[in-house]
Amino acid sequence: MYSDDLLKAWLQEQVPRAASMKNDAAFYRKLEQSLDVARKENGLMTIKPRWDDTVIDFTTSDFLSLNRTGRIREGFKAELSRHGDYRLSASGSRVQYGNYNYILETERMIAEFHNSETAWIAHSGFIANVGVLEAVALPGDAIVFDELSHASTNLGLKLSMTTNRIPFKHNSIDSLREVLEGLKSSEPAFAKGQQSILICVESIYSMEGDLCPLREFVDLAKEMFPAGNAQFIIDEAHSSGVIGPRGGGLVQMLGLEKEIAIRVHVCSKALASTGGIILCNKTVRRALIHQSKTLTYSGAPSFAMVASMRAGYELLISGATQKAQDDIQKIVKHFLDKVSSDAVCAEGMDEGLLNIPLVEGFAHRAVHSHVVPIKTKPRHEQYLAFHLALANMNAYSISYPVVPRGGSRVRLVFHAHNTEEEIDHLVASIATWVREMLDIENGLSNNTLPSAARHVFALQASLTA
Ligand SMILES: Cc1ncc(COP(=O)(O)O)c(C=O)c1O
Repeated sequence: MYSDDLLKAWLQEQVPRAASMKNDAAFYRKLEQSLDVARKENGLMTIKPRWDDTVIDFTTSDFLSLNRTGRIREGFKAELSRHGDYRLSASGSRVQYGNYNYILETERMIAEFHNSETAWIAHSGFIANVGVLEAVALPGDAIVFDELSHASTNLGLKLSMTTNRIPFKHNSIDSLREVLEGLKSSEPAFAKGQQSILICVESIYSMEGDLCPLREFVDLAKEMFPAGNAQFIIDEAHSSGVIGPRGGGLVQMLGLEKEIAIRVHVCSKALASTGGIILCNKTVRRALIHQSKTLTYSGAPSFAMVASMRAGYELLISGATQKAQDDIQKIVKHFLDKVSSDAVCAEGMDEGLLNIPLVEGFAHRAVHSHVVPIKTKPRHEQYLAFHLALANMNAYSISYPVVPRGGSRVRLVFHAHNTEEEIDHLVASIATWVREMLDIENGLSNNTLPSAARHVFALQASLTA
């Protein structure tokens, strides 16, 4: 059973190690000591054993099911056979020998699909974000970013040429306005349109699953900085392939292509391969090439990688992913419908055991995100994830420091391949867990922990005995 393999591998990694390393070199002992701090909370980040398709998938980034159905493999093979004489390696950086025709053609095709002047292929979305932020903010500029920005944005901020980096509250127009007003009043160059303000947002936030109010943000920036010196960088990692016309993303869904300076798309999720794409105009592209070591002090993406990206884009462009895109919408709506109308889950929400912010107003929402977090009390995220794992479902718990303290959750990811029966099983399992927790909290049970957590902790005790 997959849950046993998963839990054993995970629990083994949580066993403290430094105490048994007294005779080891300080370098290794102290590293383990620092990891032991996370292990004490069962919080060491670990790699997971692979599972097969019999485990119900509420985790993978194969949102459009292109990977599990083999559709991307077929496209990739076709791409390889069309270019049978390919040289696998780029054999150099883009600014040297590594700039080959096939990557340029693919960039043009992707740019055209996204209504962008240019596209740049990076090794990953992570590297794209870091590379962009390293290159485009100049000294004296400001970067304003959503407080829940992805780790890649946070790392890119550290490399940027400006030290003026200010967070605003997640998705809050009032907070963004306040930050922009602060900049405008503190530095005349911003008010006069002489220095730039770069606003970093994400189309769908990977842990919250909510959409950025992009149009409102764009209107605000234009109103406050009519000279056009406030510009947007948007990470579309989670919307690539999933929302917008033929999966073109949020910017295209809103028709804001002309208003957004830089868009980052990824192929590692819905497009079922790897690679990042930076959509921008020629000026930005020139600045990336000249100023981003992340993007150019590295061998260019190989033919194989670019071919896999192209195969994904061929599917999007042809409209072949539209049904999968629609299926995701239906399945998420089915989940939200079911969980909000289940009496036990509703009681769990009333009693503060579960909080599913995306339930609020879902019936009136035009577009659903495929990421739906179930927020819990601290530690309960692990109990609920154990419970789901033992019921043959894969949905990971997310705890601090991946999310802010107090933000623990089980993160559900929905796919085109999820069925209504799977969702019904999921909701029924959540309800069973809630009932157990309610009984424990109301003193109606002899246990202090729910059954799945008892099972896991017994397993853990047997490992250290
Ligand atoms: C919001 C966001 N941006 C960027 C990335 C990185 O994308 P990639 O997997 O292509 O490196 C991720 C992936 O986890 C993400 O969720």
